[in-house]
Amino acid sequence: MQSASEAINNFKKHFSGDCRVFFAPGRINLIGEHIDYNDGFVLPAAINKGIWFAIAPNNTNTATFVACDFDDTFSIDLAEVKNINGWQSYVLGVLHILQKEGYSISGFNCTFGGNVPAGAGLSSSAALEAGLIYCLSQLFQLNISRLNMALLAQKAEHAYPNTKCGIMDMFASLHGKKDHCILLDCTSLEFTYFPIVLDKYDWVLINSKVRHSLNDGAYNKRREVASSALNMFKSVNQKITSYRNILPLMVEQLKYALNEEEFKRSLYITQEIERVQAATKYLQEGNLIAFGKLMYQTHNGLSNLYNVSCPQLDYLVTQASFNNAVIGARLMGGGFGGCTINLIEKESREAVVANITTCYQNTFGITPEVYVVESSNGVHELLNEQQF
Ligand code: GLA
Repeated sequence: MQSASEAINNFKKHFSGDCRVFFAPGRINLIGEHIDYNDGFVLPAAINKGIWFAIAPNNTNTATFVACDFDDTFSIDLAEVKNINGWQSYVLGVLHILQKEGYSISGFNCTFGGNVPAGAGLSSSAALEAGLIYCLSQLFQLNISRLNMALLAQKAEHAYPNTKCGIMDMFASLHGKKDHCILLDCTSLEFTYFPIVLDKYDWVLINSKVRHSLNDGAYNKRREVASSALNMFKSVNQKITSYRNILPLMVEQLKYALNEEEFKRSLYITQEIERVQAATKYLQEGNLIAFGKLMYQTHNGLSNLYNVSCPQLDYLVTQASFNNAVIGARLMGGGFGGCTINLIEKESREAVVANITTCYQNTFGITPEVYVVESSNGVHELLNEQQF
């Protein structure tokens, strides 16, 4: 689905009466990967790709969803919400959590769909969850702050799809601000907006088309290992309460007390926490060249220490690094597939992308998709036709 109008037309096709229309963006993350659940800082931005919802109460106790992109309809009695695999799991997780936490909702009709590709690391699932919570909060005057909506969306994802994700994706979808990225302290949940000043560069996403799925266990396993390594650090030094208190050097010194996985994961985490702090400074100074170097370092860490890359993503980053016009590249999001994020000089962008595309096609027989993304505001209602 490419526009709000399509969501509205689908609503009219399936239901009668008026509807309200909302947009929930996907996100990119400039740097700070896999540290939102490890006491780190992240630098995401909401993007102009996302999910549109056309929605209205229906004066019953039944919620009916039309997933336009899957051409699929699903109804559930709100008193009988239970988990079902597939796209339903994300919306059912939201209905479950809202009711569990005491929010009173009634039946509604909803058509939704979007242009944020699923499984590409752009957080289509967080956009769906955060967007639905926002819609329901508006429809039924639930009066939930954006921060609490993000926390509820995270709980929904933990409860039903069973990915023990961090807070970054839903937070970014709800708090995005056009032309800005968000420096989010994942411990205190305090945040600051930074203007994205790109000068002569573009953020370009290259979708490897290797579909990543975070609920197959590998993501949760990363979280478990990170947590068991942290417990070891805590047991050695009572002053340690979080990864924030641990420097990479300390990880090296305590290598003997960790198994190999714990060592590699915690080394990456502590390095990435330091990197984001340096990256933020470079961003403030407008030093994108230095920022880009850190992106490559993040990729190395994600590939060799956190082990969440795959041959296709490694290839895309290596090919990017052969071009002088690419000043930074790395896999983005949870990994195991999805997109790389690249910082590319505007004037050479098309030639560079064409070159990477051809090499990738020749090596893997896959044509990657390329998106030049723009930042966007967080989840919001579209109030007039100009916005549709
Ligand atoms: C996924 C998760 C996020 C975050 C990233 C990796 O997108 O949903 O919480 O952990 O992976 O940075």
